[in-house]
Amino acid sequence: VIATWENEAAVAAARQRLLDGGTALDAVEAAARVPEADPENFTVGYGGLPDRDGEVTLDACIMNEKGDAGSVTFLKNIKHPVSVARKIMEETPHVMLSGAGALQFALANGFEKTDLLTPEANARWEEWLVEKEYKPAVNIERHDTIGVLAIDDKGRISGACTTSGMAFKMHGRVGDSPIIGAGLYVDGEIGGACATGLGELVMTTLGSFLIVELMRRGLSPQEACEEGIRRIVERYKDKYDYDEFQVGYIAINKEGEHGAYSVVEGFNYTLYQKEKTSVVEAGNMI
Ligand code: GLY
Repeated sequence: VIATWENEAAVAAARQRLLDGGTALDAVEAAARVPEADPENFTVGYGGLPDRDGEVTLDACIMNEKGDAGSVTFLKNIKHPVSVARKIMEETPHVMLSGAGALQFALANGFEKTDLLTPEANARWEEWLVEKEYKPAVNIERHDTIGVLAIDDKGRISGACTTSGMAFKMHGRVGDSPIIGAGLYVDGEIGGACATGLGELVMTTLGSFLIVELMRRGLSPQEACEEGIRRIVERYKDKYDYDEFQVGYIAINKEGEHGAYSVVEGFNYTLYQKEKTSVVEAGNMI
């Protein structure tokens, strides 16, 4: 199991699910649900920072080794968007539901309506309202979108990705996290990849798909993550100041090898492999 950032509790939940006989898909869903329920995590689920209008809107997706995928975007008032995404994958003919339709689907399927804006997140929003200046910042509190990948004892690979998106984003903004191929991609014959950081740059380079395709062509997960970051840096070097944003990737392949890399210093990930959990600093390009 590998997850973006320091997420030992999420990785422990995935490990437990695997030990209980769950699939890789069960494991990644269990992992994503941990930060989604954590009010102290300001970038995911319940307690996530709101958009500039004070509304918490969530994006998430999930994908298995067969290429089945489910996704929700712009979902309000539901604590576990990853589980809604899984339901969409398993019980509808669609991949993605958005906004009011996603909420309607969630409520019809037994998910409870919850106020996701905690007093702490509301206080930060009110603080932001004083200046109303939107400036993305790198590695805010060393966490951001939670992406998780797992491979189980039958060699099945799955992934999940969940986020409240950029803090104080424009109302209606959707990032990379629910976009299959951008925030997450899995090919059961090759491996999987996940992204965290400034979604606009991941969406426009289709980063996770790119990394899996590079692995298909023979690159290791580490080499593929480095190439994914290099593409972003090359393409956007004149448009963005690299002091002001971060993108990080994690990847695994079918052989159980892993890789991680980011644009600037400060990205880390949590790995559970061979009965050991560790938090590891990823390398960076700039
Ligand atoms: N990577 C999360 C976002 O940009 O929304």
